[in-house]
Amino acid sequence: MTSRLDGPLKVSGRAKYGADHNFPGMAYGYVVLSTIAHGEIEAMDVMAAKSAPGVIGVYSPFDPLELRTPSSPVFGETWVPLQDREVTYYGQPIGFVVAETFEQARDAAMLIEVSYRPRPALTSLEDGLASAEDAQPTFGDSPPSLAVLAPGVESIEDALAESPVVVEATYTTATQNHAAMEPHSAVAVWDSGGLTVYSGNQGSDLQAAELAGALDLDPSSVHAVNPFVGGAFGGKGRTSAPAFLAAAAARALGRPIKAALSREQVFTATAGRAATVQTIALGADTDGTLIAVRHDSWCSTPADRSFVEPTSHGTSREWYATPNLAISQKMVPLNIPPTTFMRAPGEAPGSFALESAIDELAVALNMDPIELRMRNNSTAPPGKDLQWSSKHLDECFHVGAARFGWANRLPHGHTDGDWLVGLGTATAMFPALRFPATVEVTLQADDTAVVSTSGADPGTGLLTVLSLVGAESLDISPDRITPRLGDSAFPPGGMSGGSTATASAGSAIMIAAAKVIDDLLAVASSPGSPFDGMEASYADGRVLAGGRTMTFGEVLRAVNHSSISATGSSAPGEELSKHSFSSFGAQFCEVRVHRWTREARVSRVLGVFDGGRIINEKTARSQIIGGMIWGVSAALHEGLEIEANGRLANGDFAGYLLPVNADIPEVDVHFVQYPDTLHNPVGARGLGEIGTVGMAAAVANAIYNATGVRVRHIPIVVEDLLDQ
Ligand code: MOS
Repeated sequence: MTSRLDGPLKVSGRAKYGADHNFPGMAYGYVVLSTIAHGEIEAMDVMAAKSAPGVIGVYSPFDPLELRTPSSPVFGETWVPLQDREVTYYGQPIGFVVAETFEQARDAAMLIEVSYRPRPALTSLEDGLASAEDAQPTFGDSPPSLAVLAPGVESIEDALAESPVVVEATYTTATQNHAAMEPHSAVAVWDSGGLTVYSGNQGSDLQAAELAGALDLDPSSVHAVNPFVGGAFGGKGRTSAPAFLAAAAARALGRPIKAALSREQVFTATAGRAATVQTIALGADTDGTLIAVRHDSWCSTPADRSFVEPTSHGTSREWYATPNLAISQKMVPLNIPPTTFMRAPGEAPGSFALESAIDELAVALNMDPIELRMRNNSTAPPGKDLQWSSKHLDECFHVGAARFGWANRLPHGHTDGDWLVGLGTATAMFPALRFPATVEVTLQADDTAVVSTSGADPGTGLLTVLSLVGAESLDISPDRITPRLGDSAFPPGGMSGGSTATASAGSAIMIAAAKVIDDLLAVASSPGSPFDGMEASYADGRVLAGGRTMTFGEVLRAVNHSSISATGSSAPGEELSKHSFSSFGAQFCEVRVHRWTREARVSRVLGVFDGGRIINEKTARSQIIGGMIWGVSAALHEGLEIEANGRLANGDFAGYLLPVNADIPEVDVHFVQYPDTLHNPVGARGLGEIGTVGMAAAVANAIYNATGVRVRHIPIVVEDLLDQ
């Protein structure tokens, strides 16, 4: 168990985040946001702002900074501000004021008068349902709807009609914001070599590529740096508005520019999680065997339809064995802030609906919900032939049930004084993916090694994992490895997203390490070298030949090399045609609902996970704990309220409820460890997102067990539990 290598720097305040960078002559940018949800900007009076103290530049759609829409294979097109007069949501970036100080820029921004020609705004998902559209294909080009039916079955409705037990209900989930501790920000500096941008993100090479596209520059002249990231969760995948604006303004003004969003601005000027409406129908035999699963979803999407929260697709990709399955995915374009990836996109809200529905089916069957889940445990994704590479969900439930005391659960909960106590459970799944990644491994003459890749560690523990996998691959102790991340000058490591980084970068490290060892042996046995002409081998950080050994540093010094480097690349490959891959887990929750106040408190949670091999249990646990807490938060705290005019009623940390320590009990996490080398040579599958999957349903299911009240929306509030 290794402590997070960057932990001491972070907790002591010595870690330098993007906005902590300062340069001589630096000016400050402030982003101006729209105050209507839909319409055209008719005019912007910037006279007063321009003559305000310290102001250097005022930019607007009428006097824009030059930016083009970048397009990348990972993100598609990313919107850039100020290029037209259209407003499609309240809080959209429409201007940028640059001044000598942050306060001067902010004060001047308040002096800008904007005239709009407003158009009617559609801001409520409920109101928009009637105008829903088929979602564009998501993940692997899955169509918006699909049906897999058993031979002879005409339709999912027929399969449901013939099922002895059927439950059907509609579930809704709220829109959320990532609310990462570090607001989106950037410091942009130009010099003769080009542009350097310091900005927290999920992949520095991806950020550099987007900035190059937006500024019409050769990618080689953009340098993106993010050694520390104060949380991302999907919300720092794309380049942020302040980064685009700071970079363009720095070019226009010839000065370094720092721009940071205020906390309130983060809620609209970035992107959040879509709200969803989901209707689920489950048909089962009397013994609990599923006969039919239907999952229809609607999600909010911004007016440009740039992101779909693929809730139903999770049901088809992962969950239960069923002979008949039908899903549909619709999107509802609204005049709301953009939506994007947020931890477990699709699965987080999707699992609330599906895992609540499974609990409802267990009640209808009078069956234990774990038994029901195990009866329908799949050996392959529904409707597909490729078996899971490694699935130990059953063990997760068995271990979890024993650890949590599930056997003591009563069908209608129990009481403890004035508290009604209930237990709930849910399945967690998240597909195991990996992305292309390249890593450089360098052996140095001082017997240390460097492992570097552009990537990012947004708090996941990747930096620490690089050193551990590097140490293992080079057969030396981790304290001799210097891991480097978060700089686009390093080989392209791709994204810390999709729970992929350990598998992607880890596989590349193994390849790079094997290569650098080969190169070292070649050097060691080359003419004039210590092992000239001998057959050399490598173990324990040492070269062995002719009964003698030397450390790799000694070898390098003997041949006057200060270092030797090799890069390794890995990408998903033929394993994809052989197996299906997913991480799995069993979530458990104990809830106490007060008899009189109806306040719901989570009193115990446990998650047992099958994520393949766990490289570092300490950071893995910490990832999972964060995810589980987020699940509790989704269940009982978080939800943005959008007013009819499109303004967020609670878009700040006063109104947007997040759990505090007093809301969260001790979180118990356990891993069942089965290295999945069919997925990648490291054997680790993703853990970043699965921790949150299923937890909101486990909370709602526990509340049902405690109170008999089935709440089919999140967040669940006191009012939902009154008058029962
Ligand atoms: Mo994420 S939602 O894995 O960027």
